Amino acid sequence: MHIGILTGGGDCPGLNAVIRMVTLALIHQCGARVTGIERGFLGLLTRSVRPLDEHAVQGILAQGGTILGTHNKCDPFHYFGAGGADCSAQAMAYARELGLDGLVAIGGDGTMFIANRFGEIGLPVVGVPKTIDNDLAHTERTFGFDSAVAVVTESLDRLETTARSHGRVMIVETMGRYAGWIALEAGIAGGAHVILLPEVPFSVDAVAAVCREREARVGDGGGYTLICVAEGAHAAGEGMTVRATLADSPDPVRLGGVCHTLQAVLQPRLASEVRTTQLGHTQRGGTPTPFDRVLATEFGYHAAELVRSGRFGRMVAWQDGRVTSVPIADVAGRNRTVPLDHTLLAAARALGTSLGI
Ligand code: F6P
Repeated sequence: MHIGILTGGGDCPGLNAVIRMVTLALIHQCGARVTGIERGFLGLLTRSVRPLDEHAVQGILAQGGTILGTHNKCDPFHYFGAGGADCSAQAMAYARELGLDGLVAIGGDGTMFIANRFGEIGLPVVGVPKTIDNDLAHTERTFGFDSAVAVVTESLDRLETTARSHGRVMIVETMGRYAGWIALEAGIAGGAHVILLPEVPFSVDAVAAVCREREARVGDGGGYTLICVAEGAHAAGEGMTVRATLADSPDPVRLGGVCHTLQAVLQPRLASEVRTTQLGHTQRGGTPTPFDRVLATEFGYHAAELVRSGRFGRMVAWQDGRVTSVPIADVAGRNRTVPLDHTLLAAARALGTSLGI
């Protein structure tokens, strides 16, 4: 058996732990030959591959990023490098030339969308869900998320002490695209006074009122305010803050900068100074947390089991506290946002944390 592995979309901590597990399980349990495809699906067009064996995956468990490289702009069915042409036949021809019996695609919704299309044209695929955003349909957890939440939580802890010392309003912007999972969990873990999510359009007046009320409570647990805002959060009736629109990407919108948007409208309403920290890609970098290493390893093992049992066309998933799998077609191109009846939202309200409404 000859199996290819690739990592697609934005990187996140834990990718290497999956590559290691899938490789070792396929070698040890199936006697398979394993080939790494470099830079996501692009490697099938540029013919960039490398053999993966025990030596190649040694020492990578704790490494962030992906040893195979990744790409979040390459869809061979609509390849911008060739003016948007369908180059899938070229990719399939190369997969056949390599003699691949199947492919393990580790990625987010975009990668699953492309993987599903390759499955339809004859390349058997197993999917493994990754993203710091935790926003893939049909899986309650993706690896990378816990590591991102840890980075944001540590940042909130650090910013809290300086905000308190100076009596400032600190706005911390997280990633997460159209879902507020990172801001919600890290906001709670880091004790933010205000948590703003894309799912709950906020009122600037309500946020300003919280800051003013806390301004007035110097020496009484107040005097400063910590705001954790997801990049997709927006005021009611306003659009999201877009950092860039990329003409050469299947997912052209890049969010970012809502911390500055919010600062601009809050500052004139407040006596205290409003400062911003946009955490950006620090949330995607660095070593995976132990939780993410274990989850990634478990996902990798399950992916190898799906390959071993010939159950292609499925994506590994985490549901009701255990690993399972779902049809990739059910996940492709779909997102999972924070439901308005989620218990963490109720917990935040019970804490007295403002959701900006
Ligand atoms: O999907 C992961 C993610 O980090 C999002 O949270 C963020 O909006 C996006 O990727 C950033 O993408 P890029 O690295 O292309 O700017």
